[in-house]
Amino acid sequence: MKEKVMEALKQVFYPSKTHSVIKEGIIDDVEVKGSKVLVKIKTEEKNQGVIDMLKRSIPAALKRIEGIEDVELEIEKVVEEKEKVANIRYVIATTSGKGGVGKSTVSVNLAISLAKLGFKTGLLDADIYGPNIPTMMGIEGSPVQVDKEHKDKILPMEKYGVKILSIGNMVPKDAAIIWRGPLIHSAIKQFLEDVTWGDLDFLVVDLPPGTGDAQISLTDATKVSGGIIVITPQHVAMSDAAKANDFFKKLKIPVLGVVENMSYFVCPNCGTKTEIFSHGGGKKFAAENSLPFLGEIPIDLEVREGGDKGTPVVVKNPDSPVSKAFEDAARNIVEKIKVLNS
Ligand SMILES: Nc1ncnc2c1ncn2[C@@H]1O[C@H](COP(=O)(O)OP(=O)(O)OP(=O)(O)O)[C@@H](O)[C@H]1O
Ligand SMILES: [Mg+2]
Repeated sequence: MKEKVMEALKQVFYPSKTHSVIKEGIIDDVEVKGSKVLVKIKTEEKNQGVIDMLKRSIPAALKRIEGIEDVELEIEKVVEEKEKVANIRYVIATTSGKGGVGKSTVSVNLAISLAKLGFKTGLLDADIYGPNIPTMMGIEGSPVQVDKEHKDKILPMEKYGVKILSIGNMVPKDAAIIWRGPLIHSAIKQFLEDVTWGDLDFLVVDLPPGTGDAQISLTDATKVSGGIIVITPQHVAMSDAAKANDFFKKLKIPVLGVVENMSYFVCPNCGTKTEIFSHGGGKKFAAENSLPFLGEIPIDLEVREGGDKGTPVVVKNPDSPVSKAFEDAARNIVEKIKVLNS
């Protein structure tokens, strides 16, 4: 008799679909006792109208079988578990009080250095108005793709061992983005939640200059494990760095430390060291504010060229002193974050 019931169920169409309730996979079990059938259904169906239709169509079909008089349905609604697409251990954000000090350059080279140290690393470009990450990572002009396995999610790009997401890969190059705060807010939230980042040890977030919407949105959307202040060494950079530090303090984000960028210049021909923007400002600032000092990055032609050409210096010339400086800073970050979270 059970076979007859199963055969009959194969003829019952699932409402709004072109296949049967069997193919839909909602029939969990069928028990036949004499002239009575119990059909156990497990479904994620949210539409009550569909459930009501099944309550009519299944008994109607089964009662047509000779010898079946009574049909009972037991319907268990399964709550669809939201697929966890991101499992990010540490979100770290680079910021500075003002623009042009090398936040994006530092973010890119640190992210790659972290990946080279064996950490699963992502890089999120949160500079909505001026996304530079696609150029610096050499993925300019490649549009983002929808994740085929999670059709409502974005697939991050991947380059140099780092998963990357930037609005620069979603809008035409050179298009001005004129969004107000709320849109930036929802974009950043989506960049964290609707992207299949997968398991990451670090997500490095490159923030725009200053202390605006993107910064606030990021801290609203997720726990930021640590902030990195990028500073240039000259005296006037101090007050900008102080603003960045104050900002992290207000948002209760622990500061992992200070990176001094454009620290000095070593002449490639004669080896003379020149401190173009003075030197040691970052170290001094860190000491005065009881912050860790993560490292100093020299001014280097390869850094600028690497950024413009999409081949960051830590990829192009991994053994150069500047690449070693980035690697040291990355190691320091790992150490500091472990201490903070221990
Ligand atoms: N250590 C360095 N040596 C040489 N050039 C550098 C160095 N750091 C950054 N630059 C160059 O300086 C310019 C500004 O750097 P970058 O875009 O990283 O700064 P930013 O702080 O992110 O700027 P913004 O505030 O506009 O986001 C870039 O052309 C970059 O290649
Ligand atoms: Mg930048």
